[in-house]
Amino acid sequence: MYLPYEVEKVLVSEEEIKAKVKELGKLLTEEYKDKNPLMLCVLKGSVVFYADLIRAMECPVEIDFIRASSYGSGTVSGGKVNFSVGAHVEIEGRDVVLVEDILDTARTLYTVKSEMLRSNPKSLKIVTLLDKPSRRVVKGFTADYTGFAIEDHFVVGYGLDYAERFRNLPYVGILKPEVYS
Ligand code: IMP
Ligand code: MG
Repeated sequence: MYLPYEVEKVLVSEEEIKAKVKELGKLLTEEYKDKNPLMLCVLKGSVVFYADLIRAMECPVEIDFIRASSYGSGTVSGGKVNFSVGAHVEIEGRDVVLVEDILDTARTLYTVKSEMLRSNPKSLKIVTLLDKPSRRVVKGFTADYTGFAIEDHFVVGYGLDYAERFRNLPYVGILKPEVYS
């Protein structure tokens, strides 16, 4: 297995992720089978999870992409969230599902969600692969579907990066603190 020296250990294995994605796909299929949902990938971190998740859904879906970023190249959220939706993404009247890699302070999704609600989707739900509830700044903010709740570690892999690296690891691993401290 490819384990870069910066990665301390595997936190969620490839097999555990696969099983969880299948389970989430089932739940989403159940909820959205007659709704033709608009599955929105929050770039870039969720791209790997997203690609697997939509293929675990056994119903019609449409896909699109938005960009959001709050981190620079460090590991602590800057607080300011940059967010852009392609001009072509039409969400009014749609059942929208935002797909995120990780819910941390929740500043990103809070901003994105509030902005999107102004365009009057029919419904708006959030799926996140990972959740670090102990880091929440936007109190009470939760996802509608969560893969794994984890402790407060900085993690990489399966789409998640540190300074744009490690997104290609097939598992979620804990980054050695000495890499960023
Ligand atoms: P929030 O706005 O603080 O909830 O941050 C969400 C974004 O921060 C995620 O979409 C990630 O891009 C990034 N992030 C938060 N925690 C981690 C982590 O442990 N590893 C990698 N990226 C993270
Ligand atoms: Mg990121």
